[in-house]
Amino acid sequence: MASDTSASHDETATGAHNRRGPFRSGDRVQLTDERRRMNTITLEEGGEFHTHRGVLVHDDLIGQPEGTVITNSVGVQYQALRPLLKDFVLSMPRGAAVVYPKDAGQIITMADIFPGARVIEAGVGSGALSISLLRAIGDTGHLRSFERREEFAEIAQGNVETMFGGPHPAWNLTLGDLAEQLGEYEAPGTVDRAVLDMLAPWECVSAVATALVPGGVVICYVATVTQLSRVAEALRADGRFTEPESFETMVRGWHVEGLAVRPDHRMVAHTGFLISARRLADGSGRLAPKRRASKTEFTEEDMNAWTPMALGERNVSDRKLRRAARDARKLADRAAYQGHDADPSGD
Ligand SMILES: C[S@@+](CC[C@H](N)C(=O)[O-])C[C@H]1O[C@@H](n2cnc3c(N)ncnc32)[C@H](O)[C@@H]1O
Repeated sequence: MASDTSASHDETATGAHNRRGPFRSGDRVQLTDERRRMNTITLEEGGEFHTHRGVLVHDDLIGQPEGTVITNSVGVQYQALRPLLKDFVLSMPRGAAVVYPKDAGQIITMADIFPGARVIEAGVGSGALSISLLRAIGDTGHLRSFERREEFAEIAQGNVETMFGGPHPAWNLTLGDLAEQLGEYEAPGTVDRAVLDMLAPWECVSAVATALVPGGVVICYVATVTQLSRVAEALRADGRFTEPESFETMVRGWHVEGLAVRPDHRMVAHTGFLISARRLADGSGRLAPKRRASKTEFTEEDMNAWTPMALGERNVSDRKLRRAARDARKLADRAAYQGHDADPSGD
């Protein structure tokens, strides 16, 4: 009986070739020792990885299959694997807080990001969420990401290129404010999905409503309940959206060993909240149960409370951002070199 292996060997999808095959020069490799301590290195011919516990020669890994357990100069063993997307986004150069993998997974599913979708996003920050969105829409989709700070855009560009081994054909990175520039790039009623991760998503609600197709989805990721409340009221006040739904995701790891089976002692307890709504057809109004009037207007005092400092946003120095941008570019250049030289068959 003939077997169809084509689906498992689609090397034409952007980034697929650098996810498979033996280790090559330019690959990012995650080394984990027996105590689960991790280091991520970029393989280079003639390169060495030094720790106080010996030296690992990169050439010993180049050409080996992924999953190899390798021994360094003093007998320390490491298991060597390419980082998965979830590992990469937590180890890549960054300037702003990234969307954690647990939330990125929820965004992809709850906002129904589909292959071929036309998606807009802001801000880009370090590009973690852009990577997940590009993975989900694929080469035939369209992602336009807005970022108003140039240094962040540079970091994100480097990280996306490292992940995919070069530029992604579905990605357009636009420097500027989404609320001001969206209309210049995306015609009204043409965008399938909109994803907002920024301090003040309510400032973008009107522009997003204009760009979305009827039935389109907007999803916002916010860190605090005060932001959640304000964006919910902005979506309602706009009048072009369904009643918003809000939720958060908690993931608790488990320790499973023999009879010692219990939740991990530590967990990431809070990252952010997600709120989503659908675009109604023009001329239709939101259906929601009638409620007694409650305070939904924000006072001047409330407005003044939404400063970056009040919301706990870290002020990242320009120097740190420039360093992260340089690191991201260096990694992207190495990944591109690898993509150029790689034999797609992995042989
Ligand atoms: C928390 S970061 C985004 C992180 C990103 N989602 C990730 O996973 O790496 C927020 C970013 O939004 C940008 N930003 C804020 N408001 C914006 C707007 N209206 N238009 C474009 N970018 C904006 C900021 O400069 C900042 O880089």
